[in-house]
Amino acid sequence: MASGTSRDVVGRGLRVLGRAIREQPRIFAVAVTGSVLFGLMVIASAYVVGAVVGKVVVPAVARGSVTDGALALAAAALLGISVLRVVGIFGRRLGAGYMQYRLQATYRRRVTRRYLDLPLAWHHRNATGTLLSNANSDVEAAWYPIAPLPFAVGTLVMLVGAVVSLFLTDWALALVGLAVFPALFALNVVYSRRMAPRQARAQRLRAEVSGIAHESFDGALVVKTMGREAQETTRFGARAGDLRDALISVGKLRGVFDPMLETLPSLGTLAVLVVGAIRLRQGAISVTELVSVAFLFTVLAFPVRAIGWVLAELPRSVAGWDRVRRVLDATGEMPYGEVVLDPATPAPATLAFHDVHFGYEPAEAHLPGTEVLGEVTFTVPAGKTVALVGPTGAGKSTIASLAVRLVDPRTGTVTLDGVDVRELTAASLASTLALVAQVPFVFDDTVRANITLDRPGIGDEEVWAALRLAEADGFVAALPEGLDTMVGERGTSLSGGQRQRLTLARALAGRPRLLVLDDATSAVDPRVEAAILAGLRAPADGGAPASILVVAYRRATIALADEVIYVEHGRVVARGTHTDLLATVPGYADLVTAYEQAEQEREQTRTYDEVTPLTSGLEVEVDR
Ligand SMILES: Nc1ncnc2c1ncn2[C@@H]1O[C@H](COP(=O)(O)OP(=O)(O)OP(=O)(O)O)[C@@H](O)[C@H]1O
Ligand SMILES: [Mg+2]
Repeated sequence: MASGTSRDVVGRGLRVLGRAIREQPRIFAVAVTGSVLFGLMVIASAYVVGAVVGKVVVPAVARGSVTDGALALAAAALLGISVLRVVGIFGRRLGAGYMQYRLQATYRRRVTRRYLDLPLAWHHRNATGTLLSNANSDVEAAWYPIAPLPFAVGTLVMLVGAVVSLFLTDWALALVGLAVFPALFALNVVYSRRMAPRQARAQRLRAEVSGIAHESFDGALVVKTMGREAQETTRFGARAGDLRDALISVGKLRGVFDPMLETLPSLGTLAVLVVGAIRLRQGAISVTELVSVAFLFTVLAFPVRAIGWVLAELPRSVAGWDRVRRVLDATGEMPYGEVVLDPATPAPATLAFHDVHFGYEPAEAHLPGTEVLGEVTFTVPAGKTVALVGPTGAGKSTIASLAVRLVDPRTGTVTLDGVDVRELTAASLASTLALVAQVPFVFDDTVRANITLDRPGIGDEEVWAALRLAEADGFVAALPEGLDTMVGERGTSLSGGQRQRLTLARALAGRPRLLVLDDATSAVDPRVEAAILAGLRAPADGGAPASILVVAYRRATIALADEVIYVEHGRVVARGTHTDLLATVPGYADLVTAYEQAEQEREQTRTYDEVTPLTSGLEVEVDR
């Protein structure tokens, strides 16, 4: 690290700390007050010890007896100082702890809040792992120096106090102090500068080691079935070895510097004794003063380390803060409009795409962004079902994201009941639309909470109605605690098809006027899939049917649609009824037939999880 940049880091680190102080001024004041009290008591203790030696011990030795009064006074003074020191430590630790953890909590909230505000386009460019470390370790790293900061500030005050008291005592002893304190300070600075890159490396390796472990656990299925255990062990072993070396190099540096930091004040004490003896002989100082100063040098050494701790954490803090700020300063929230779609009686909505072009933003700004969709125009009329069919990568999920306004078109418009979706309020969009995504997501919560998502107006009756529509009521009723069963990562595990039906029920519970199903029933038995879709088109409870845009593959599903839109390479290649397309579009016929064959083969080898109890062990995650 060049000295220019490290000075830069100190400057920027101090500015980050300044921000922390501005955010929590009162707690910081408490912590610093405690720390200053402690520092002053350290100085005071040196002078009291000096006084005890000079005024009580020396006369007592000379006389051969101790005066009780003097002894009691000395004991009382030392006790008083100890109590004040304890109060100081308490205030400092409490304040520093409060400040550090409050800042962490505040910024974690701000960062995660920001994630929710930022558009999907931003999330497409940022890996999940990065987002996690932004909210966790980066926020923590940014506020690491807060813990020793009040101690360091108090120590600075203490050092100034010590030098002043030295000058008041004797100029020659003060000169010794002026030589030793800055040397101690400088040694700390050198130490922390050398330590910072080593610790940064160790920190990075720690993250890598846990990253590899995490990946191996996540991919346990692949690792085991592909016989990759040995390679995974080697990969992990290599990084773990690097981490060991990095930590040993940290230890070595400690081994060199720690003794030096211990020795320097002792050398100072030695110098004080030599200079002090001369000054004593000259009659310039008393025994009391000499002992006080010698003692002062020994007790000052430890607190000075706090300054080193702060300096050592600054590079990490700056790096963490930079990453946190990148999130907080990120722009591009989706602006919402003012229009509210609120028909008097709930009726299916009409969705229309007009000449929509779209491309994902490249991961890095300098890379060219390619167009994923072009000239996409189609309509889902009110109450109708439109199937979106196309080979993998054709852009079906992208069309689904545009339909529910997760992303906006580059050019062209998406309208709901004739209104550009960009002009609608967020609430109006949420109440009109529901997307069941290609990859079902289940929260680590109860079945009920997974379906209601705390939305108002969804009671148990509505939940069961939605479950029935999604053909999920059977397996939910068979769960040990019904709607109260915990599902997700730490609860009951659901099969692929059960997850899909749960997420479908979640979408249905909000009674959307337009439902977008992105391959949302692929892991469900084909007969069940057809039944679900038929139920949505004509709800048995007499409720209004929703308009449906469904990404589908199965002939039986597609055949239910009023119209089929066939997409290839981001373009609408053909549209019409299933029968028309089969007859006129060779690519379409090939795709549907190929899928059907694959499905039949799989059908023979796999068991669907149709309403089986969870304990049967028959559930198979069917990945399309
Ligand atoms: N987040 C993303 N960032 C960049 N490119 C993407 C992203 N998601 C999809 N794409 C690209 O956009 C194109 C269309 O993808 P999309 O997911 O819409 O296809 P799909 O038709 O849903 O495919 P599948 O049938 O496999 O689900 C693909 O070429 C894909 O590589
Ligand atoms: Mg898709």
